This record gives sequence, C-alpha cells and structure tokens, in this order.
Amino acid sequence: MKEGMPLERVDPVHVRRNGRLWLDFGGCDYLRLAHSPALRQALVRAIQTHGWNVAASRLTTGNHPLYERAERKLARFFGAEAALLMPTGYTAPLAVAQALAGMFTLALVDEEAHVCLQDAAVFLGCPVRVFPHRDVDAVARWVRRLGPGARLILITDGLFGWNGAVAPLAEYRRVLPRNSWLLVDDAHAAGLLGRRGRGSVEEAGISRERLVQTLTLSKALGLYGGVVLCSREIRRRVVERSGCFGGGTPLSPALAAAVETALVELRRALPGRRRVLQEAARLRARLRAAGWEVLETPAPIVALFPADRREARRVIRALESEGIHPPWTEYPGRSAGYFRFMLAPAHTAEHLERLRRALLSVRGAQGRPDAAGRRARAG
Ligand SMILES: Cc1ncc(COP(=O)(O)O)c(C=O)c1O
Repeated sequence: MKEGMPLERVDPVHVRRNGRLWLDFGGCDYLRLAHSPALRQALVRAIQTHGWNVAASRLTTGNHPLYERAERKLARFFGAEAALLMPTGYTAPLAVAQALAGMFTLALVDEEAHVCLQDAAVFLGCPVRVFPHRDVDAVARWVRRLGPGARLILITDGLFGWNGAVAPLAEYRRVLPRNSWLLVDDAHAAGLLGRRGRGSVEEAGISRERLVQTLTLSKALGLYGGVVLCSREIRRRVVERSGCFGGGTPLSPALAAAVETALVELRRALPGRRRVLQEAARLRARLRAAGWEVLETPAPIVALFPADRREARRVIRALESEGIHPPWTEYPGRSAGYFRFMLAPAHTAEHLERLRRALLSVRGAQGRPDAAGRRARAG
C-alpha cells in the first residue's frame, strides 16, 4: 500500500490533480453532501459560536451539551435506542469492543471485514475466528461445532465498500443462537441503504436487539466523525469502559452542532438515490455485456478488476482521454488493485456517458460483443 496521489476536491464532481481539473467518480461522499452549502454554513456558524475544540475528554470537562443533542437526533434518525459520538468511524467499533470485552466465548469475523473491525475484535478478549466472506453455512458450521453454552459475536461490515457486497444479516440471525450478538460496521451503508437511509440493518429488516451498529459521518452524511448506535445499556458501558471514548478529546463540537443539518440534508438527498442506482445498474449491464465481471449490489458502486497490468493501463488511458480521474484503488489487505467507480446524484447524463464510453472502449470493442450498445444504436 502506498499513499494516494494528492487530489484537491473542487466541486461535487471534479478534482484537481497537478493543476488540471478531472471528472471524478472516486471516494465515498455518496450523496456529495460534503459540498452542501448548508452544511458548510452550519459548520462555519458553529465554529464561530462554539469554537473548534473542547480540549478535554467527555469524562472530564469536555462534555459539551451539543454532543448529547446530536446523539438524540442520530438515535431518532436511525431508529436506535441510543447513540454515542466518537472522534472517527474507525474508533467506533474499537470502543464497542472495549465495552463488550468479556461477554463472549468466540468472535466470528468476516474475512473481508474492514481493518477497524479486525482491530476491534482483539479488544473483545476472546478467541477470534475468521469465516469465509458472507458465508452463512460456514457460520452455521461454527455454531454446530461450538454447541450450547457458546456466547458468540459476529462481526461484519453491513455494506462492503470496496465492491458493494451486502452482508446477509438476516441469514446470520437465522443460524446464530438467540443469545448471539452482531457488530455491524455500516460506514458505507448509513444514508445509502434502507428506505429511510438507516443502512444495512434497515435493508435486512432485522431488529436491533443484541445488535450494535457503527457508522462514520464522513461518507454519505458528508460530515466527519463516528457514531455507535446501540441500547442505552451498551451506551453506558461504552462511556464507562472504553479508553477510545474516554481517553481522548471528542470530535469537534462544531461537527456535533452540524449533525442536525447533515441529517436534514441527507433526508433531502435520499430520493436522489433512485436515479443513481438505475444508472449504476445500467452501466453494470453494459459492462457485463462487454465481458467484464461486475458484482450486483444495491449501492451505486461499480468495481472493475482488470485482467492484468496491461489492461489496467489501457483503462487508465481510456479514462484520462475522457478527462476522468482513474479511481484506481488498492484497499488495505488486498493484493491486487482495481477500479472503483461511485455514481453520485450530482453526475449528469453527459458525465455518465463519458464514463461508459471510456470503459467500453477497452472491452466493448474486443471482449464479448457490446449487445446493449448495439441495441441502443439500432434503436
Ligand atoms: C467500513 C469502514 N469502517 C470504518 C471506516 C473508518 O471511518 P472514518 O473514516 O470515519 O474513521 C471506514 C473508512 O473510512 C470504512 O470504510
């Protein structure tokens, strides 16, 4: 893994690289709220009123009333009993694991789980076993092997952001013993999945009983910071037991103040998801017809895996000739790089056509015949 190239985001769909503007399909600002003028104003106003930093832990003098107010709004929006703000999305599952330490005899972690979940599992103080990606049968086999008396926690991303795969949460619930817990990191699904934007838990239609959902505010919500959504009892445990929570400075009070605006903006942006999902499905169908293997997903994510370095270079050249910054991605823990495109409501039909043209120029011409393209031209 190496550092990404310096990129300056100039508006919802463009980045500046080496002084030149490029059309951008990268990142996780799914609804492009990070560029919302309302959010920008809310932050500036909040800094002017409340300052930038409480300069102390929430266990001492840093517990600004803005935090609890934002937490009430977040709990209501996501339909949880309680919420707790964390400095980042990365620290949210770590804090949960510190709070739940000692409760389990085994933690089962999806092999593709985000690195923050793998780190969090260590804090649980019980053996940790990795199960094959989204493999419900493998989880069921663990349950049978462990027999009665096991106290399990299953740890997974709700939506795997690198390719858009969704965790089968309802199926996990079906095969796990009733006393098992789920820790679901919904950094990518919050605001993106579920009718009300409540994430993979809403999408799966499962209850919040013995379930902790962690989020980041820095993707679909366009803000910054982490959130734990849980019962009041678990919130109390995190506050009392977690070093990640109590041992440091909380997120800026200005960010907490802006949570309310972020939720208003998110609600307003939710209907815009429909067109983007249709566009993403159409693009995936065209790419498949051209011979690419593309995963189906309810997210506006299109992950493309070039056959080799030569093809990767051809994709890069084709994208650049359309003025598109190539979103070449190397995820932590993944050996091969790939292209990850994210379609946002702010992308116009012309932007999407440039992307389609670039990608189909690489395989549409020489892969399987571009049937969808031929149909469109014939019509
Ligand atoms: C699945 C997942 N969880 C957690 C995080 C960390 O969130 P944050 O950036 O707010 O620390 C990320 C990445 O940004 C992520 O992709």
